Amino acid sequence: MTQLLVIKSSVTGAASVTNGLIDRMVDRLRHDVPGLVVTSRDLDASPVPHLSSATLGGIGRGEMGEGSAPTRLLSDTMIAELQAADMLVIGAPMYNFGIPSTLKSWFDHVLRAGVTFQYGADGPKGLVRQKPVIVVEARGGLYSEGPASVMDAQEPHLRGMLGFMGLADVEFVRVERLAFGPDVAGPAIEAAARRLAAIGLTPALAA
Ligand SMILES: Cc1cc2nc3c(=O)[nH]c(=O)nc-3n(C[C@H](O)[C@H](O)[C@H](O)COP(=O)(O)O)c2cc1C
Repeated sequence: MTQLLVIKSSVTGAASVTNGLIDRMVDRLRHDVPGLVVTSRDLDASPVPHLSSATLGGIGRGEMGEGSAPTRLLSDTMIAELQAADMLVIGAPMYNFGIPSTLKSWFDHVLRAGVTFQYGADGPKGLVRQKPVIVVEARGGLYSEGPASVMDAQEPHLRGMLGFMGLADVEFVRVERLAFGPDVAGPAIEAAARRLAAIGLTPALAA
C-alpha cells in the first residue's frame, strides 16, 4: 500500500491555483499508482484551530488542561498521517508574503517536541520518517528573483519547518506572477502542471 498525504490551504475555492494543480496531479497519480491511498486535509473546509492558552497542553507544552484533549487527539492524528505517508504534497498559496494562517496552524500541531523533533547534545534532530515533499506555491508577484525576493516569508519558512522535522527532500513548484495578467498567469500555471507531471511516479510511490 502506498500512501500520499495532501494538505491544501487555499481559501479561494474553485478559483484556487494550488488546489487545481494538486487535483490534476492526484488524478494522474491515482491512475498511475495501483492501490494508492490518498489522505487529504483541506484546511479551508476543515481549518485546524489556532493554539490558545486553553489548548497548548495538547501539543505537549505546559499542562494538559481541560481543553487540551481535543487538541492532543488532533495533533496525534495529523502526526500519524504525516508519519504514515510515503509522499507529502502541500498546497501553499502566498498570503501577505507568508503561508496561510491555517497552514501555520497545521504546522503548530505537528511540530511537537519529543514526537516530530527533539533536542540533544548536537542540537535539534527531526524525527519524521523520510519522504519526498512537494510544495506547490502560488504567488501574485515574483519572488524567486528580483527586488521582491527579500519579501519571501513563505518558502524559507516552509523549508525551515519541514527541515526541523527531518524532511529535507523538498521540491518547491512555484507559480509566480499570477497577478501580471492572463498572458503571464496561464503559461505559469501550465509550466507548473508540466513540472508536477514530470515529477511523476517517484520511487517513493512506486515502492
Ligand atoms: C488574502 C490574500 C493575500 C495575498 N497576498 C499576496 C502577497 O503577499 N503576495 C503575492 O504575491 N500574492 C498575494 N496574493 C495572491 C495569491 O498568492 C495568488 O492569488 C495565488 O493564486 C493564491 O493561491 P490560490 O489560488 O491557490 O489560493 C494574495 C491573495 C490573497 C487571497
